[in-house]
Amino acid sequence: MIEVLKFYSDPLLRKVDIELFKTYAFKDQFTVSAEESMDIFSLEKEELTYGEAIWSSIDQILKFINPDKDMVFYDLGCGTGRVCFFANIKYHLKAYGIDLLPTFINNAEKIKNKFSLEDVHFIKNNWLNFDFSNADIIYVAGTCLNDETLSELTNKLKSIKKNTYVISVSNELKSEDLSLVKSMYLPFSWGRANVFISIKN
Ligand SMILES: C[S@@+](CC[C@H](N)C(=O)[O-])C[C@H]1O[C@@H](n2cnc3c(N)ncnc32)[C@H](O)[C@@H]1O
Repeated sequence: MIEVLKFYSDPLLRKVDIELFKTYAFKDQFTVSAEESMDIFSLEKEELTYGEAIWSSIDQILKFINPDKDMVFYDLGCGTGRVCFFANIKYHLKAYGIDLLPTFINNAEKIKNKFSLEDVHFIKNNWLNFDFSNADIIYVAGTCLNDETLSELTNKLKSIKKNTYVISVSNELKSEDLSLVKSMYLPFSWGRANVFISIKN
């Protein structure tokens, strides 16, 4: 409800959100994730557990960062792409969403094309194997990531540009290359979580 009151005055955000709602009305994103991760990985992979950010939380994070238009934003594990759509439409960022699950990427691409959103891109890949070193802002909802993946990610962040913002949910990514600039406690689909905003040294 809060999302509707706060963000539906923007016609494009409203239309994209209604399209997302229609896309997942028959089979919701939680079911898609549960079924597809089971099909593709043949057993339940805990790291693929689905949950979503709400727009007002992403808004608070991006308000704090105050990004320039056209900065490059990555959502590592983008799910339906809802965060990328928001970052592009509300903050005019070049948004890239990466996810392992084909249904999420195919549906997000259809919505991007339907509304001719040229600066939103969806990539079916494992972000651990993807080069995102052109990022200005990286967001990862890493609540379900295991210690091994978190450490691989932290290692991968050594190659990103100085001053890149790294936003991580639930788990702070600690390394000598990252300085924590802000922590917040914000609502997500599964409840409130700590959000850590760091900057690359
Ligand atoms: C908790 S959901 C977050 C969705 C969205 N980013 C948000 O915050 O609303 C995590 C997503 O990451 C994807 N995922 C997990 N590990 C991944 C990996 N190594 N590469 C690509 N996608 C991954 C899952 O399929 C899932 O869609």
